[in-house]
Amino acid sequence: MESGKRGFLTLLPLLLSFLFYFDFSKKLPSSDCSLLPHNHYWIASKHIVTPNGTISGAVEIKQGGIISIVAEENWHVNPWFTTVVNYGEAVVMPGFIDVHAHLDDPGRTEWEGFPSGTKAAAAGGVTTLIDMPLNSAPSTVSEEALKLKVQAAEGRVYVDVGFWGGLVPENAENATSLERLLDAGVLGLKSFMVPSGINDFPMTTSAHIKEALPTLARYKRPLLVHAEVLLDHDGKLEPEDGVDNARSYSTYLKTRPASMEEAAINQLITLTKETRAGGSAEGAHLHIVHLSDARTSLNLIKEAKRRGDSITVETCPHYLAFAAEDIPDGDTRFKCAPPIRDAANKEKLWDALLGGDIDMLSSDHSPAEPEMKLLDEGNFLKAWGGISSLQFVLPATWTYGRKYGITFEQLASWWSEKPAKLAGLNTKGAIAIGNQADIVVWEPDLEFDLDNDYPVHVKHPSISAYMGSRLAGKVLATFVRGNLVYKEGNHASLACALPILHR
Ligand SMILES: *[C@@H]1O[C@H](CO)[C@@H](O)[C@H](O)[C@H]1NC(C)=O
Ligand SMILES: *[C@@H]1O[C@H](CO)[C@@H](O)[C@H](O)[C@H]1NC(C)=O
Ligand SMILES: [Zn+2]
Repeated sequence: MESGKRGFLTLLPLLLSFLFYFDFSKKLPSSDCSLLPHNHYWIASKHIVTPNGTISGAVEIKQGGIISIVAEENWHVNPWFTTVVNYGEAVVMPGFIDVHAHLDDPGRTEWEGFPSGTKAAAAGGVTTLIDMPLNSAPSTVSEEALKLKVQAAEGRVYVDVGFWGGLVPENAENATSLERLLDAGVLGLKSFMVPSGINDFPMTTSAHIKEALPTLARYKRPLLVHAEVLLDHDGKLEPEDGVDNARSYSTYLKTRPASMEEAAINQLITLTKETRAGGSAEGAHLHIVHLSDARTSLNLIKEAKRRGDSITVETCPHYLAFAAEDIPDGDTRFKCAPPIRDAANKEKLWDALLGGDIDMLSSDHSPAEPEMKLLDEGNFLKAWGGISSLQFVLPATWTYGRKYGITFEQLASWWSEKPAKLAGLNTKGAIAIGNQADIVVWEPDLEFDLDNDYPVHVKHPSISAYMGSRLAGKVLATFVRGNLVYKEGNHASLACALPILHR
């Protein structure tokens, strides 16, 4: 507004501010839900990452939503009557959406649980996560099990949590049961093509997946697949590999060669042909979780995409940060499936991510009780698999990606926009007008040591593969639907985030 033209016009913002003041003073959010006791305020920064690029300016937030985005030169508010949180040079980005986390609640809360897992998420700038249907007990494979999940999440989550349901032989062969699970609000399904290690989550064959795809097409929800299969000639240790060598990562690597991923993906892309226009599963979508093999498996996915199949793929920061050759003997914190492969494969994964052939990133945060990792014995063949990383995916992606010149926009695409699209979260994933105010504020140049003094919020810090490293990119603040849920080491005292069900 041009100032000084008329007295009334200069007074107008003042009057409006009063109106807003009285408006929001009546509806102050519970200060227990947010560390910022306002529900109408601005976040200002020199680096706000929007779908239209990174701008210097301010974002206006009211009642949990983003109501305007203004470039610095057009931003005129009355400082007396406006709450502005100015983050200066720090980066203001859409909150991360982690489409692959195992919080193990209910039933295995000694592994993680909703409160600790979502506190770690908040401290890491993750504002929404989609919980995997295993390793909770029961697994989320039925309507009843989903109800237990939602009950367990209510009042206990510091960031929003959606749920994948499990596709298992029992419901793949029973359309009623599958429809009930989808009707109850899972955002999509997840299945395993190898044994999952969890008794009530049996593996599916490609025949089961084929049977479920038309149902998923009708519901327009994705199927996520753990793509490894056991073949007779694969993964067999020769005597000379010996169990004596079970402390060596290379022994474990031999038990899960890239050919296992390749064979699974080969089967899957014969099914995704049907997702094309006119196919029996038109409207269905297949998403390959945690791709590790950046060679033939990746080429198969690229080919399928090129011919128009509805297929996407994610990888995880641990495949981009670590190389098999560098994993110390006996350090079972690094055991995961598919395994971390060699350094040359890691470079190819980066190429694929930067080139757009890998669509998005996820944590695959998968903790267990420390005893199950057998850290003393260091036996890679016997230790429970799974990498614990939820709080560190932002700094890990940034730290290891900086040398490839990754941009804030790329981070927002891999960690917010594309994951929101996969999970069907239409009002999340971008700093855009009308979206929920899910925002992370972080400082790219701030480095920190992940040592025993560092406040780690996952239940079992000792099993995180990132402990002991130095990372760059410190999260300063995290907002979930306008609530400041985390600020410089502190969490809001109440868990006011919400379970998300498909509507
Ligand atoms: C299919 O699932 C429904 C719902 O869970 C169940 O009532 C029904 O008995 C099942 N049918 C068969 C053949 O198992
Ligand atoms: C991006 O810019 C266009 C044109 O200026 C505008 O219409 C659109 O609303 C902007 N989108 C966002 C998310 O800011
Ligand atoms: Zn997983």
